[in-house]
Amino acid sequence: MAKLRMAMVGGGPGSFIGPVHRLAAELDGEIAMVAGAFSANPARSTEAGLGYGVAPDRAYASFREMIAAEAGRGDGARLVVVATPNHLHLPVAVAALEAGLAVVSDKPATATLNEARELATVVARTGGLYALTYTYTGYPLLREAREIVASGRLGAVRKAVVEYPQGWLSGAVDNKQAAWRLDPSQAGLGGCVADIGVHAFNALEFVSGRRVTALCADLSRVQTGRRLDDDCNVLLRLDNGAPAVLHASQISAGERNGLRLRIYGERGGLDWCHDQPNVLTLNWLDRPSETLHAGAPYLSASARAVTRLPSGHPEGFIEAFANIYRDVAAVMRTGQAQPALQGIDAGVRGMAFIEAAVESSRDRAWRDLTV
Ligand SMILES: NC(=O)c1ccc[n+]([C@@H]2O[C@H](COP(=O)([O-])OP(=O)(O)OC[C@H]3O[C@@H](n4cnc5c(N)ncnc54)[C@H](O)[C@@H]3O)[C@@H](O)[C@H]2O)c1
Repeated sequence: MAKLRMAMVGGGPGSFIGPVHRLAAELDGEIAMVAGAFSANPARSTEAGLGYGVAPDRAYASFREMIAAEAGRGDGARLVVVATPNHLHLPVAVAALEAGLAVVSDKPATATLNEARELATVVARTGGLYALTYTYTGYPLLREAREIVASGRLGAVRKAVVEYPQGWLSGAVDNKQAAWRLDPSQAGLGGCVADIGVHAFNALEFVSGRRVTALCADLSRVQTGRRLDDDCNVLLRLDNGAPAVLHASQISAGERNGLRLRIYGERGGLDWCHDQPNVLTLNWLDRPSETLHAGAPYLSASARAVTRLPSGHPEGFIEAFANIYRDVAAVMRTGQAQPALQGIDAGVRGMAFIEAAVESSRDRAWRDLTV
């Protein structure tokens, strides 16, 4: 079976998520990275291409040059990965879709809600594949959690709590990841709320099967001199009337990446935390708790389908990312929709969440979340 050919925008020397995309995309042997515009600096793009083993003439000086050249080649890339700072997500995705190429974009979908709406019209008009790497949706036990809620075992959802504490921006941080995330011209509307709050929001909607209809947010710039929020606390209302709480922070000193989701139904609740992603706890009102393990035969088919190793052999971040690429490859090969894959609708909803949270925080008043 011929490999699906992929090109990346971003992922230059010293970057974080580009190399993760490359490893994840290639993990199952279905996709090969053949080209890239890895940096806005042409020499750095060439340097990165050498490191990735991409042919020198396919490490391009700009994403527009790359898309034109690859779309015109018989052996050109058919999938473009967007791994740049947020302000470039829209122009890169639009250029790729207009050239007839599929897009895998990192989150948030765009820099503003209006941009996400614009992108949605392009996705609809071109009919191209557009997928977002909301990483946590790739974890087997988050998919199991979603199955459990949908099955009704917990009863109707009555409350949800999602938290995403990090501490890496607790002080003055001088690196390239911090630089663009704290700059509104590159990060967009939100700081922490757009960077990780949107992951928490997506995980909540993904697992609960409910949509957030309104919110009241209190965003803070705790570290002096910041132009964007570095801590956010949000009350939410779900579409069945249930209350929910979302907290995300990048100044919670000592915290690393502990996204945690708790969903409470009428009969019990579930609890998943990224610190132990291969464990899912079910707590019952009337009987002892259960601990579910990734890779176990008692899990649902959708969770079992995204583990590669026997239970007890830890899979993690790269594999969760790779599971999203598996879904992308399945859509590209078969044309069949994959139920866990997050597309433009989730992208627009994420941007609506960010915008509503930023607006609500101005006067700490409730805002409807409308898309
Ligand atoms: N899904 C996740 O779990 C996850 C995790 C981290 C980051 N992200 C997202 O991934 C994106 C990148 O984040 P990061 O932490 O890797 O940033 P980074 O600063 O480490 O890397 C960004 C890369 O984009 C390149 N770049 C900038 N302008 C470019 C241009 N015009 N053309 C080509 N390349 C260009 C930079 O040179 C750099 O190599 C962001 O949107 C972020 O929100 C997602």
